[in-house]
Amino acid sequence: MLLAISGSPRKQSNTTAILQKILTECSKEGFNTKLIELAKSPIQPCTDCGMCRTKLDCSIKDNFLSLIPDLQKAKIIIVGSPVYFGTVSAQLKAFMDRTVMLRRNGFTLADKFGCALAIAGSRNGGQEHTIQTIHNWMFIHDMNVFADGKPTSHFGGILNAHEFGGAEKDEVGMQTISSLIEKIKRIL
Ligand SMILES: Cc1cc2nc3c(=O)[nH]c(=O)nc-3n(C[C@H](O)[C@H](O)[C@H](O)COP(=O)(O)O)c2cc1C
Repeated sequence: MLLAISGSPRKQSNTTAILQKILTECSKEGFNTKLIELAKSPIQPCTDCGMCRTKLDCSIKDNFLSLIPDLQKAKIIIVGSPVYFGTVSAQLKAFMDRTVMLRRNGFTLADKFGCALAIAGSRNGGQEHTIQTIHNWMFIHDMNVFADGKPTSHFGGILNAHEFGGAEKDEVGMQTISSLIEKIKRIL
């Protein structure tokens, strides 16, 4: 299963639209796909209460626990974020921190494949740093990280957009998405 996680808090989000496009292309090949939108499933930040040190549970009663089965089923996890002040959105950071319970309870994300995309209002608005932050999350979960793949291969999907719908008009950025789709199909 290919799982996409959108870190945008916007209901009309470039990040979500591009992730949806990737899932649609991959589902045409018969692959199972799923999208988690943090805009629809807000996750509160970790409070370091320590509960998950001894069991797969959390003292914060929001939607996070309901996301775990999809995280565990996925072969590939693609994480997308808007760039906020040069890094991931607070919503995505909260999600990433809460997954510490999976690391503490058997490293259940280990050996999964992971890739990232970032969308910023400026051409050089912090996409690479944002992707690096997502890669760090994947490394710490012992995941296998991959980039957008040939012929554009650098760090992952990198787009420039602000208004909703702008990402698909970024021709250079969309080349990284085309490469990424092909790379995902080769791994799935
Ligand atoms: C709080 C905030 C901080 C932002 N910081 C940056 C930034 O550092 N660099 C940049 O190029 N764009 C920045 N932006 C613009 C967003 O990255 C851009 O609008 C992006 O397309 C939003 O993605 P979305 O449509 O998926 O929500 C910021 C926007 C907000 C709301």
